[in-house]
Amino acid sequence: MPITSPPPLRTMSPWLTVVKDLQAERAAEVPFPPGETSFSLARTKRFADDPLPLLLESYERYGPIFTLRLFHGQVVFMLGPEANHYMTVSHASNFEWRESHFREMISFLGDGLLTTDGDYHRRSRQAMLPAFHSERVKATIDTMTEETGQALQSIKPGTTVDLYKWTRKLALRIAMKALFGLDPDGAEAQRVDAAALFEQALGFYATDFRLRLLRGPGTPWQRQQRATKLLNGLIYAEINRRRRTGERGMDVLSLLLDASDDEGHTLSDVQIRDEVMTLLFAGHDTTTSTVAFMFYELAHHPEVVQRMRREQQQTLAGGLPTAEQLMRGELGELEMVLEETLRKYPPAWIGPRRSVRAFEFQGKTVPGDAFVDYCSWASHHLPDVFPQPFAFRPERFSAEAKATLPKGAYVPFGGGSRTCIGMRFGQLEVRTIATMLLGHCSLELPASFQLKVRQMPTISPKEGLPMYVGSPASLNAPRNADPVAA
Ligand code: HEM
Repeated sequence: MPITSPPPLRTMSPWLTVVKDLQAERAAEVPFPPGETSFSLARTKRFADDPLPLLLESYERYGPIFTLRLFHGQVVFMLGPEANHYMTVSHASNFEWRESHFREMISFLGDGLLTTDGDYHRRSRQAMLPAFHSERVKATIDTMTEETGQALQSIKPGTTVDLYKWTRKLALRIAMKALFGLDPDGAEAQRVDAAALFEQALGFYATDFRLRLLRGPGTPWQRQQRATKLLNGLIYAEINRRRRTGERGMDVLSLLLDASDDEGHTLSDVQIRDEVMTLLFAGHDTTTSTVAFMFYELAHHPEVVQRMRREQQQTLAGGLPTAEQLMRGELGELEMVLEETLRKYPPAWIGPRRSVRAFEFQGKTVPGDAFVDYCSWASHHLPDVFPQPFAFRPERFSAEAKATLPKGAYVPFGGGSRTCIGMRFGQLEVRTIATMLLGHCSLELPASFQLKVRQMPTISPKEGLPMYVGSPASLNAPRNADPVAA
């Protein structure tokens, strides 16, 4: 008998969801916080297209807690250091993830770590944690450097590369190999283009919110289901192979296959598939966006690139970075650039929740069964916490400056019992890819390139990131500065 399942969703029908949400709103036992609560398609569209300005304006007007009606439902937003700490740490038990307004992700991810709560979530997390301890993460560096080295061979001076697409493919290969011992060049993986299928499945969440309600032939929903089915095939084939051969390794899949509760119940194939799909998604999508946004900013900051390359030469002397060097923060400039990138563009930009009981925050009441979100993206752009928030300034994360940040101010990996389980892995991967890319070539943006950001549901460059490839010596060297030798 399998380990217990998470509670079923109230409904999977998008139309019935609307009805049930409206019923929950009518049953509110205390008032919602003030805000823009009338029905407005224009506001909904604005939020879907470009949420950051709307959230910052609302913060200015209403303070750290406010309500916006988005499509049919009232959504409470809580922004800023105290709000983040309240939602993720001190009062995390007031909230659940499962019935949040991101619940439509369950049709793709299933019931994995990201989409479950309570006891089921706690037990799954405990089962998987050993795979994310720092010693295990350190051991993945060889996969990371090998895969990155191989992928760099396709980046040749004089050509243009879509760095976003390139990184997605690479990050997915690393996740498949390092987390699941899955051979990205094996027969099963060769049959499907997993990176393209993820792009297709996740593309559903970037389509117009009205089209997402439709079901049936030719709809975005059907396209997502098709991609999901092909990805499922890849995952189930590996689960079957491992069960058949008894092969085990140091990877997460091995832990899941052998996990059992106190009574000896093990996980079913569907439960394992859901955890694997969740980790594959979370394990490559966020790092892909981070690398892309980092190189977008570096293309505008040649003086920062100059410092990073000088540091690399001093520390690595042309060799590959070791896990110890990268995890101990020996490349200090890179650390600051990574932290500033995750401040300005936290890929998992929103923490969607639903309140399980009514509560009060800073004098405002919030009913039970209400949508409540924290938002790292907006919280990282509050000028009283991060002056000139739209400027890219890695020095904000020097040791001295960081020490002055209030608790809860900087939350790119969330917090509390739902803190990103893959944080160390993700950081090591971004540092490895960035270091090796910097050593390999220079990357510049076409003058006409305008960054547009989409939410899919993580933030990423909407039209990819086309970059000109130059030789390493010309790496964004500032005018009148001595070029740094490669
Ligand atoms: C730069 C890289 C990454 C960033 C910025 C990031 C960010 C986040 C954030 C903010 C959360 C919490 C969301 C919430 O509160 O609702 C989260 C959760 C999670 N992340 Fe990451 N993540 C990254 C990389 C990874 C990697 C590499 C993996 C897997 C190998 C991963 C797996 C997960 C999982 C499974 C959860 C759910 C944890 C739970 O609820 O217990 N993430 N991540």
